[in-house]
Amino acid sequence: MISLEMGKIRAEAIGEVQEAVDIADFCVGLSRQLYGLTMHSERPRHRMYEQWHPLGTVGVITAFNFPVAVWSWNAMVAATCGNAIVWKPSLQTPLVSIALNNLVRRVMSEQDIFQPDDGDPADVFTLVIGTDETVGQAMTDDRRLPLISATGSCRMGRHVGQAVAGRLGRCLLELGGNNAMIVTAEANLDLATRAAVFGAVGTAGQRCTTTRRLIVHRDVADDVVGRLSSAYAQVAIGDPLNDETLMGPLISRDAIERMKQAIETAVEQGGEVICGGVEGIERHAERRGYFVEPTIIRVPPGTDLPVAREETFAPILYVFEFEQLDDAIAMHNSVDQGLSSAIMTDSLREAEMFLSHAGSDCGIANVNIGTSGAEIGGAFGGEKDTGGGRESGSDAWKNYMRRQTCTINWGDQLPLAQGISFDA
Ligand code: SIN
Repeated sequence: MISLEMGKIRAEAIGEVQEAVDIADFCVGLSRQLYGLTMHSERPRHRMYEQWHPLGTVGVITAFNFPVAVWSWNAMVAATCGNAIVWKPSLQTPLVSIALNNLVRRVMSEQDIFQPDDGDPADVFTLVIGTDETVGQAMTDDRRLPLISATGSCRMGRHVGQAVAGRLGRCLLELGGNNAMIVTAEANLDLATRAAVFGAVGTAGQRCTTTRRLIVHRDVADDVVGRLSSAYAQVAIGDPLNDETLMGPLISRDAIERMKQAIETAVEQGGEVICGGVEGIERHAERRGYFVEPTIIRVPPGTDLPVAREETFAPILYVFEFEQLDDAIAMHNSVDQGLSSAIMTDSLREAEMFLSHAGSDCGIANVNIGTSGAEIGGAFGGEKDTGGGRESGSDAWKNYMRRQTCTINWGDQLPLAQGISFDA
């Protein structure tokens, strides 16, 4: 159903469902680990500790590209923390959303552990389908949703962030990425090529974590571009349910238009189309479905390509060159978004440099792995215009709860903190 509705290939769709299964497994263990700290009180015969309570009902807004996984990262964790969930999925993936929500509602109806005094246990999971202007706005404005977790474009995130902040609510934002992979002269180029192809072409370039920029050492740049061009020529484009297919269609005609505009702008700005391009789009114009060809655009050394600073949700890979790793890291960090990043190198020094505070400024930093394909066990999200939120594993659960600091006086005196004397 995922493949049919949004076009990613079956293997990736199955992977996405596996993520939902994995996060559900993770949450079974997490339910026993919603730990608070204890701390010593400065006052005698006092005890202090922190505990975590549910927020109540959490609003979850998701995008079309991961219609199952992203809801699962949020809803499974939010429910484990004791919350109910109101979900607004993308208008482009209503069927998957209805199917998934019905599945978890059925589980809730069939279990006998959680039975509220009034109400239907299935209502822990609710779904509202509608436009951003009506449903989305109603959710962001509603104080009964103390947390809105939203995944989508930076533009959407800015709007949601401002609306929710206006009522002093909480936001968890997972917004756009402009992810780069640095390939140094010390890299295993076979690994680098495979990682770049999966990162740039997987999900037809429509992941938040898609590799959009490749920053390659001058000494290996021709070799890498050659290897990539040969790999791109092998990418089978077509029916996402066919096992041979590696790249399905884009989500809509508008997405094709945006890809075309980005390519035209890149060429105007001095980029050289190595493969795909506008011609690659036109070659598929008569097909049913929004098919395009993955595109590589090489940027002449020493020049800038302003269009590469924008996230275009399409399989376009911009290839830049560098000489010094410091310069590569500066290029890497020069964009507004800060989601995912990667370095391909066999040099420990280069890898550690990339992971240091002077290295990647992203929420996710990988060594010898591409930028996409995160595991659920880690916290997922990014910095700068990506919004700063963290979903999924690690301690992301804290976003879905309210912290309470408790102090208990078990003595028979009332000493004040800081030793203040206040005797009447
Ligand atoms: C996404 O949220 O776009 C993808 C996550 C991933 O690539 O692992």
